[in-house]
Amino acid sequence: MKNNIHDLEEKFQARIDAGEKIEPKDWMPEKYRKTHIRQISQHAHSEIVGMLPEGNWITRAPSLRRKLGLLAKVQDEAGHGLYLYSAAETLGISRDQMFDQLHTGKAKYSSIFNYPTLSWADIGAIGWLVDGAAIINQVMLTRTSFGPYARAMVRICKEESFHQRQGYEIMLGLCRGTEEQKEMAQDALNRFWWPSLMMFGPKDEDSPNTEQSVKWKIKRKTNDELRQEFIDITVPQADFLGLKMPDPDLKWNEERGHYDFGEIDWDEFWQVVKGNGPCNKERLKARTDAWDEGAWVRDAANAYAEKQSLKKQSENNKKIAS
Ligand SMILES: [Fe+2]
Ligand SMILES: [Fe+2]
Repeated sequence: MKNNIHDLEEKFQARIDAGEKIEPKDWMPEKYRKTHIRQISQHAHSEIVGMLPEGNWITRAPSLRRKLGLLAKVQDEAGHGLYLYSAAETLGISRDQMFDQLHTGKAKYSSIFNYPTLSWADIGAIGWLVDGAAIINQVMLTRTSFGPYARAMVRICKEESFHQRQGYEIMLGLCRGTEEQKEMAQDALNRFWWPSLMMFGPKDEDSPNTEQSVKWKIKRKTNDELRQEFIDITVPQADFLGLKMPDPDLKWNEERGHYDFGEIDWDEFWQVVKGNGPCNKERLKARTDAWDEGAWVRDAANAYAEKQSLKKQSENNKKIAS
């Protein structure tokens, strides 16, 4: 039987429909490969760039306990970035190529990290809302069709849930504190609520890739379904804190069994995606500076590796000669 491209594609889809995982050396349609390279690398970039807004507060955390928690969280995010770069590399792109795409602005990362962290309460709001939104997305991805991506997500999700809890605990501390502390928490919620909802991407009707992604089980739920799930989970948590969601249209809809909510400012969303958010330039500069300043480390590591391989070679030659 000849394996023309049509047969291969049919077999591939049958494997996905049967719930099998696709592994790096398996045959896959070029578009599936490319979509995954884009999605996994952009996810990796988000983890790495996401360290910046929070790293900003490590030296200013209000207590040793808070500092340790934040330090551990930011380190976790670095680890997430590294697993994900490795997963993307199995599809035939190099890490240097991915960094180049990030540094030249060709690759995107999650827009939420282009907002500034103005107060300590922002660290609470980010853990609670941003990591909370990330979990909703990533729990779905533990069952995605591409094996290395799905497996990386299992560990990442466990760590994300610690991040969400520590963020919520910061909010709880502030909300049970002084009037001023509670105001700080409310202000952080006001600024981070809408950008968190934007993390799920455009509405389904404006998201042309969703259908293909669902067919390939890259995504198992649509942007709007995930966003609704996040809102339904998060509103009661805000109530428990005694905070008010900055959305006058937010109310429980008995008939739907979900919260109704107001319209997202999609102009703002697209502006930030296009690079015009409050911190886009600052974030990119931090990454390109880190790359340039790290050049000597990469050079030293390469020189050492070369020296070691020469040494091994000459030992092998000696063994053969004796
Ligand atoms: Fe993460
Ligand atoms: Fe996280």
